[in-house]
Amino acid sequence: MSLSFLSECKEKVFNRIDALLPDTNKIASSMRYSALADSKCIRAGLIFASGNLNKEISNSALIDMAASIELMHTYSLIHDDLPSMDNDEMRRGQASSHVKFNEATAILTGDALQALAYENIVSSPEITQSQKIASIKALSNACGHEGMILGQQYDLDAENNDYKDIKKIHELKTGRLIRVAITMPHLGNNNQKNQLEVLDEVGKDLGLAFQIIDDVLEVSSDSGTLGKSNQSDLMNSKLTYVNTFGKQESIDQAHALSNACISKLEDSFNKNEVAELLKLAKFMVERNS
Ligand code: IPE
Ligand code: IPE
Ligand code: MG
Ligand code: MG
Repeated sequence: MSLSFLSECKEKVFNRIDALLPDTNKIASSMRYSALADSKCIRAGLIFASGNLNKEISNSALIDMAASIELMHTYSLIHDDLPSMDNDEMRRGQASSHVKFNEATAILTGDALQALAYENIVSSPEITQSQKIASIKALSNACGHEGMILGQQYDLDAENNDYKDIKKIHELKTGRLIRVAITMPHLGNNNQKNQLEVLDEVGKDLGLAFQIIDDVLEVSSDSGTLGKSNQSDLMNSKLTYVNTFGKQESIDQAHALSNACISKLEDSFNKNEVAELLKLAKFMVERNS
């Protein structure tokens, strides 16, 4: 299953990253290697689909936000795959960054992608000053010690039974970035408060649903289709939705979350304006990679 909307988003984002990141040195090359590898660009899609609800924001502002979200996500994957983390040798259908280059370069590449994600938003000519401040605040909070990184720490702790709240792990390690992708096009704009609240709730549930399906795909798909290992959770004794609730119950929970988001979006917005967001909410749980 694929969405033509996502292919269009991917083209816009890859063109932007290509322009932003000329192949001028070793780190730039390794950043390009991972950031421009084949991926779904779901988080970029969420930026564009949600941005469609804000008539005040320009397409090029959304392209910069989407590029930054994908750069941030790529950094998180490079570090997630490191030998001291999940120790995965394949990502996006190719050798992981530390396998292609070396571990030190992979660490630096992730660091540089993270910095570029922020720099790109701050430098964007079409994002207003108040949108920039609100976006950077939300993005840094989502990705830091109370967000994605805390989730990654809990995910590691859970390998030794030192942390047990699987819902919290998923909401943090994956959910927080997805949540900020949905809200970012509406930040720094006081007129959008009600919309923002609904989108934030939807982002939270879709983020959790997305990671539940990531756990499910790991046991129900193959590494060729996924472009990454389908043995990683097993090899690392990860706590997952599947080993907590079973496969079918996990799928049911993810679909229930997605359906609740779809109803909430239909109740809160004009159906035409929210059409792409509805399709994404469905795709995020029905995807096969
Ligand atoms: C994989 O994310 C890691 C998770 C947070 C679940 P995606 O499934 O969005 O990976 P890409 O970006 O398409 O490679
Ligand atoms: C990764 O979760 C979450 C982040 C990168 C923050 P997973 O470890 O389940 O993702 P995959 O399966 O390696 O893509
Ligand atoms: Mg992993
Ligand atoms: Mg996984």
